[in-house]
Formats: sequence, structure tokens, C-alpha cells
Amino acid sequence: MEFEFIEPAQDFTSAKPVLKAYHEDFRKRAAALVQLTASVQEQGMTRESAQGCVGFYCQYCIANGLHQQDEERFVFPLAISLSAGLEETIALLEQEHQQISKVWDSLAELLTEPEEVTDFDELHSLSMEFERLLTEHLQHEEQMLLPEISVLFTEAQWAEIGAEMEKFRAE
Ligand SMILES: [Fe+2]
Ligand SMILES: [Fe+2]
Repeated sequence: MEFEFIEPAQDFTSAKPVLKAYHEDFRKRAAALVQLTASVQEQGMTRESAQGCVGFYCQYCIANGLHQQDEERFVFPLAISLSAGLEETIALLEQEHQQISKVWDSLAELLTEPEEVTDFDELHSLSMEFERLLTEHLQHEEQMLLPEISVLFTEAQWAEIGAEMEKFRAE
């Protein structure tokens, strides 16, 4: 199967729209995965749904790797350096990254070889669990971290991190 990564972010002049674009992309794609696995549960694994599983796997692996790097390398350290009070929040968010990765690893085993999957209930329930953890995490970041750092980071700092993210992608 041919696969082409679709970069969720268009605008790197500031890190803010980059983070936002990834969150929106994750929400949309995870919801689509839940729908896809629900249809597999009802109709079995068609060639088209198998392609959908592999496509989701490829896209998410790359996008998630980039987004976690964006946060853990650029956003979180700056946030902590400006406000030690954010340490606890960030520890929680990093812990969530690990929880999501754990469920993702189990789900990824199924998504990479969809033709081998026999337990469609498991595929669907793992997808739902993954989507739930992921959307909860995005919401936590949007409620607990983004409002804080919107005040803490200057426009120049947002621009600087955006440029770092763009540079990192070109490497
Ligand atoms: Fe995150
Ligand atoms: Fe995030």
C-alpha cells in the first residue's frame, strides 16, 4: 500500500496553531477509526477497511511521534522554566503520553496486520479505549496547560518554538 504522510499543521510561524492543528487532526482521525472498527465489527474486514487500518497506523505513528516531541522537547521544558508551579500538570501530561502509548502498542499490533485479526470486538474496544484516552488527554492539555502558557509565553517565544518544530521536521 502506498502511504503518504499528511502533515496536520500548515502554519509554523507560531507553535500555537501547530499544537491546535495536531489536536484537531487526532480528534478527527481517532473518531474515524472508532467508526471504521465499528463497521468491521458488523461487516467483517473488507479490503477497504484493512487499508483504512493500515493508513491510520502509518499516519498516527508519524504524527504522534512529532507531536510528543513538539511538546516534550519544546513546550514542556519552556513552560516549567517559566513557572515551576506547572511541574505537576506536566508530569501528569507526560504520564498520559505513556498510558496512550501503551494502549496504542496493543492496538497497533492489530492495525498493522488487519487481515490476521479474528477478534473484531477486541479491535473495536481497543480503538474506543485509545480514542477515549487520547481525547481526554487533549482536553487536559487544552484546559490545564494551554491557558497557562498562553499567558506565560511571549509571541516571540511562540514564534521561536514554531521555528524549532519546523526545523525538526526538515531534518
Ligand atoms: Fe500531549
Ligand atoms: Fe498535545
